[in-house]
Amino acid sequence: MQVVICRDYAEMSSRAAHFISERVMRKPHMVLGLATGETPVGMYAELSRLHREEGLDFSGLTTFNLDEYCGLAHDDPRSYHTFMADNLFSHVNLNPLLVHIPDGAALDADGECARYEALIEAAGGIDLQVLGIGMNGHIGFNEPGTDRNSTTHVVQLARQTVEVNQAKGGYDTLPGSAMSMGIGTIMKAREIVLLASGDGKADIIKNALEGPVTPKTPASILQTHPSVVCFLDAAAASRLSKR
Ligand code: F6R
Repeated sequence: MQVVICRDYAEMSSRAAHFISERVMRKPHMVLGLATGETPVGMYAELSRLHREEGLDFSGLTTFNLDEYCGLAHDDPRSYHTFMADNLFSHVNLNPLLVHIPDGAALDADGECARYEALIEAAGGIDLQVLGIGMNGHIGFNEPGTDRNSTTHVVQLARQTVEVNQAKGGYDTLPGSAMSMGIGTIMKAREIVLLASGDGKADIIKNALEGPVTPKTPASILQTHPSVVCFLDAAAASRLSKR
């Protein structure tokens, strides 16, 4: 695992975006796994700028997002479909036919998860997966205790996750369940980029990167992946002892 400690959020976002853009230029038809949440917003802004000002071409990429809330229509302002449209998809030249997010509105949620997993397989697997990390160590929406071999599945969200995400989005309500790539799905990605910023993530980053590998801290499994790069700002890295 490689850990890149950046001065601040802006540098973290820029370095992560340049890392991805280098991969895209090297393999224009790559399969890119995407995350939502506050952390990658700056990275998406920089990727959008690289497209606008430097011609970074997204047209050959296939993308798969990690997760989506159950029961939300695609145009619901709280949905990850809306988040991705606002923060990336409407700013770059991705081919809409090659963009994938679990369909949270699907009536058969388990069937949708199986379909999604099969689509990832059919695309040849994920070349590079972007991850954030939850306060409880979740990756995707894989909450503590999730099986390390899990594939895309329906998740009952931890109360803390719902409360944190409601507060961040300023929402009165959010669904208590979601569809998420599993830990097994994520671990099959050939390369992983983990982003974390802010003091609030310092303890969980220390546990995940330097603590025991345990399902209690889902992100700790990344210690066993052969190719992970963590982009952290100084605050998120502040409790690492091996800096
Ligand atoms: C989002 C996701 C989550 C977030 C995590 C951190 O697709 O899968 O694991 O990455 O909850 O969220 P932020 O970045 O808002 O702190």
